[in-house]
Amino acid sequence: MPIAGFGTSFATEQSIRDALEAGYRHFDTSLNYMNKDETIQMEIVMGNVFNDVISSGKIKREELFIVSKLEEWDHQRDRVPIAITQSLTNLGLDYLDLYLIHGPESTERKNVSLVETWMGMNDVLESGLTKSIGVSNFDRTQIRSILGTGVVPVTNQVISNPYWTQKPMLAYLQSHNITMTAYSPMGGITDPDLLKDAKLNEIAQFHRVSNAQIAMRYQIQRGVIVIPKANHQKYIVQNLDLFSFNLLDYEMTEIEALNKH
Ligand SMILES: NC(=O)c1ccc[n+]([C@@H]2O[C@H](COP(=O)([O-])OP(=O)(O)OC[C@H]3O[C@@H](n4cnc5c(N)ncnc54)[C@H](OP(=O)(O)O)[C@@H]3O)[C@@H](O)[C@H]2O)c1
Repeated sequence: MPIAGFGTSFATEQSIRDALEAGYRHFDTSLNYMNKDETIQMEIVMGNVFNDVISSGKIKREELFIVSKLEEWDHQRDRVPIAITQSLTNLGLDYLDLYLIHGPESTERKNVSLVETWMGMNDVLESGLTKSIGVSNFDRTQIRSILGTGVVPVTNQVISNPYWTQKPMLAYLQSHNITMTAYSPMGGITDPDLLKDAKLNEIAQFHRVSNAQIAMRYQIQRGVIVIPKANHQKYIVQNLDLFSFNLLDYEMTEIEALNKH
């Protein structure tokens, strides 16, 4: 799983093409993500682009790492194969690299336990519709409940950035050999002012990179996967340029101290 991926919620066909061109191979999407104009599902937009680049021989399917998610209305065990098949049809693919439960809440929660949903996820893993399975927005109690099945999720995708470091969650996941994936790595809608932070700016100036690059390098350096979304081509390129500088230990500590949540 490439540690730097591309988020696709409210993205565009052009941004997916630009991301492939810039070198991204890991794409995060979901059945319910829409494009920027909210006129078409992102999976369908991505499917058209993947079809182009794979059929023209520019990129092989095996080079891509495609992640999609199970929505809250599909948590019943027998709904999981139907839901993933819908995503695969939209994407024009015959398998996903990773399939996640988008969140622990279910519109059918009264009838469906997390363990039942997780068994449905294991069914699609065993039938080869996805290469791996994981969760998103789970707390530690919820993760513990599915670990009881003996099937370990490969990742928990949660909100994380310098204002929301998720230190206890990261420690818990690492102790179980589960990766953490950070969504909204630049603050998203929860902390829209993150990229104006004075400390991030000071560190960014020292390394001659942007505040966004510092926010993401911080995650990578502590072993966390990042999935920034950008429609501006300049940002798309910049957000993958995370491997030419190193944060010093005290800078990592200073960033960690920005945590507010
Ligand atoms: N599992 C979940 O429940 C969940 C929830 C939320 C998100 N996600 C996933 O995580 C992805 C990313 O999260 P997000 O979209 O909430 O937030 P984000 O990636 O933290 O922020 C996206 C915003 O930052 C801007 N931006 C991107 N790169 C920048 C840069 N280098 N400098 C300045 N601004 C920059 C973008 O601008 P432009 O687009 O205008 O270029 C966009 O407005 C989503 O697309 C989705 O795939 C998952």
